[in-house]
Amino acid sequence: MPSYAYFQKQFVPLPEAKIGVMTHALHYGIAAFEGIRGNWNSDHKQMYIFRLKEHYERLHNSCQVLKINLPYTVDELCQITVKLVEKCGFQEDIYIRPLAYKSSEALGVRLHDLECDFLVFAFPWGPYLPDKVSCGVSSWRCPKEVPRAKLTGLYINNALAKTEAVENGFDEAIMLTADGYVADGSGENIFLVTDGKLVTPASYNSILMGITRDTVIKLAKNELGIETIEKSIERAELYAADECFLTGTAANVTPVAEIDRRQIGNGEIGEITKKLQQLYSNVIRGNNSKYLDWCTPVYTK
Ligand SMILES: Cc1ncc(COP(=O)(O)O)c(C=O)c1O
Repeated sequence: MPSYAYFQKQFVPLPEAKIGVMTHALHYGIAAFEGIRGNWNSDHKQMYIFRLKEHYERLHNSCQVLKINLPYTVDELCQITVKLVEKCGFQEDIYIRPLAYKSSEALGVRLHDLECDFLVFAFPWGPYLPDKVSCGVSSWRCPKEVPRAKLTGLYINNALAKTEAVENGFDEAIMLTADGYVADGSGENIFLVTDGKLVTPASYNSILMGITRDTVIKLAKNELGIETIEKSIERAELYAADECFLTGTAANVTPVAEIDRRQIGNGEIGEITKKLQQLYSNVIRGNNSKYLDWCTPVYTK
């Protein structure tokens, strides 16, 4: 089934969406992006895009940092994305990648006096991480004084951390803040379960404020009566956790079996993690009527 892109204000087959080699964004990492999932519900025979509006609100905020004047409102971006997914017609889980970028074919390091454009494409994408993961704390720390928005240039650090982890035999990296507290994974937020409570790094710990993180905090409170403590977490606290899991649009809710070669709990998915994973999986597929407001249905032909 062909993939499409919305590119330079029209829908085109994905292979036709090409940018010139002088495009500014390519040279200096000056672009903002999102990662959105469409989840296929085989019983409903329908695709649901999860928390679409929140992703585009975050994209608008990221664009503010880079002085990217997005030529579309949040509502228009949602409409374009629904049309794109309709057009692609996939009947499986997909990933949607919007990118807002400095599109002028002009060099010179700056943010000003440059054209901006927006593109989005979608493609089938199954699980991002294994069923349970081993993590290594990275020697690469989060940059200080840079906003943790979804800006392409900022992900150099995450890529360094991920590859270091994989080359050391781990599935995923855990990055620390510049002053040594736990921040997040290369593409996920992190949660611990300690004494029956959820603990996660706070907004001031250089984290990306994940939409999955927010979803899990709300589901834990509303459905399980579990509060989340947002605070600075020291590295050694990771090792002592009863359970640990990662959250992200790509990774969903993924249990962590070990960190720095220390087993977490019994090395299997913990009880609270399991309940949250189940809840999350139902919610994103439109199987929980209480949370249907978070799901944008797309009718594929
Ligand atoms: C560094 C980082 N932290 C956390 C997340 C999780 O964010 P979300 O749940 O909004 O996908 C992501 C993924 O987008 C990320 O790249």
